[in-house]
Amino acid sequence: MKTSKLPGEQTPPSGLSRREFMRNTGLLACSAAATTMAPLARAEEHQHQPAAGVAAVPFKFGAEPHRVRKNFHDLTDDEVKQLCAAISYMRHGSRSKPLSMDNPLQWDRFAVMHEQHCTEAGYDQVHWSWFFLPWHRGYLFFLERILANILTTIYGVDGSKFALPYWDWTAQKGIPNTADRESRGLASPFFGYDLTRESMVEDDGLVLNGKSFDNQALWEGNRTPTIARPEMNPQYEKSAASRDHIAETVSYMSVEYIKLMLRLPFADFAGAEKIDAANGQGVLEQNPHNNGHDWVGSRYGRNRNMGTLRYAALDPIFFLHHANIDRIWSLYRLPQPDPDTSPWGAQIYTFLDVDGSPVTVSVKDIVKSMTTFEYSAGSASPPPQLVEAASKPAPAPAEQSEVIVSSPATLTAGPLVLESERKPAAHSLLIEGMNVGKGGISLLEITTGPIPFTGKFLIRVFINAPDANARTSTRDPHYLGRIAGLDSEARRGETDSEITHTFQIILGESSGPFYKMARADESYKLTLVPAGMPPEANFKIQIKRIRLRVLRDAK
Ligand code: C2O
Repeated sequence: MKTSKLPGEQTPPSGLSRREFMRNTGLLACSAAATTMAPLARAEEHQHQPAAGVAAVPFKFGAEPHRVRKNFHDLTDDEVKQLCAAISYMRHGSRSKPLSMDNPLQWDRFAVMHEQHCTEAGYDQVHWSWFFLPWHRGYLFFLERILANILTTIYGVDGSKFALPYWDWTAQKGIPNTADRESRGLASPFFGYDLTRESMVEDDGLVLNGKSFDNQALWEGNRTPTIARPEMNPQYEKSAASRDHIAETVSYMSVEYIKLMLRLPFADFAGAEKIDAANGQGVLEQNPHNNGHDWVGSRYGRNRNMGTLRYAALDPIFFLHHANIDRIWSLYRLPQPDPDTSPWGAQIYTFLDVDGSPVTVSVKDIVKSMTTFEYSAGSASPPPQLVEAASKPAPAPAEQSEVIVSSPATLTAGPLVLESERKPAAHSLLIEGMNVGKGGISLLEITTGPIPFTGKFLIRVFINAPDANARTSTRDPHYLGRIAGLDSEARRGETDSEITHTFQIILGESSGPFYKMARADESYKLTLVPAGMPPEANFKIQIKRIRLRVLRDAK
């Protein structure tokens, strides 16, 4: 049977546990320190074949227990132990029951599914469009069932009570810990369950129901935050640019920003309909989602694990991050595409059942039938204000928009200055945006051509600051926001000039910097500044157009 493996990993001989495999190959010692990217293995080495010869069958809903997903902060120590034990088993089984790398449920192999759908050419890509939220919801749902089943069958614990926790980074700005551990002065289990025990060896004395589990089940060596500095704190950064970047990350991951996002139409919030060569990520994906990835992984460029989509799901915190993204989707109350009639609902994905056999679900199933879990509001401080913010269904806001830049321009590694068109309609929209008052939100929409650059990128946008460059602070009053994307090998070779990607910057309400700086009687200048890419990066994209969009009654 053909095995899926992560780039750079060797396939262990059949029946070997991951731990034995890693120990034999020396990967165990160096996995924490690895900083270079292994070359991506060829696509054909990655075919996801959960169990050779087993055809995928539609998943049957109906027998699922009701699960309550709690804030990680609120987990009891017993619940933390269960999470550690179940993930530990997926990583390498137990001494009496090793989990072979041939097993599709093995943790690294489970992470490969994400790599394929989220970055690899030749697979249905689920980022940068309206498939982002449902695919990840499905991925979490099936992982949760697998972990629950491991608790029942391996540890003799009632798995029907198990639920994935979420990391509420709007309240907990850092690698999350539980309230109880915090009060006892214990580090987050994401650095190791018990730091006084020997790590990374079996039988380190930790047991759940008589069965040992791995001390470091939730740990991942390739993170930037450390046990001494687990917080999202700009002051920990060495350069002024990084301090700015983290301060901005904090604001994109705040309750205030999420509340703004929840007022936007679905395509802007969650991702645009994918039509042929056109797509666009929603602001939920572009900002708090991408920021969470790169804060846990690394700020810029390529790195292993969370900061890089192809490795991200290796880190258990990935699933808590995505549970929070999914929770925010569950709070969204504006109209969504109709899963019964739209091509959204008809899309089908394959996931894994608790025994590793492939099962299919449609987005319609995900939206309409994957309803057996709920998110508890949690007790973290500050108290979660999002739930009330989003309690009533509301109509989509009315919108007016105007193209303000229509002549295509090429953006390379340096700043690009574009001037808004002088036309009456654009000027009246500007006045409209200035006066729309409460309930009005403005967006700047940037449409690009193909982006063959496969690394992470970040483009800052300034208004009436023609000299802005990569060193200009994001606290500059002319700064409007940024557009950004994570790595994707799927973009390699993106050359078709028909391709478009749309990006949104929330300009906010009429009091924001945009309306302070733009004068209705003159054209204004937008400066696009690529930042944080290595100078040798061959970054070159076309800016096809820029629109100003004014939403009314976005309550
Ligand atoms: Cu498919 Cu957060 O990634």
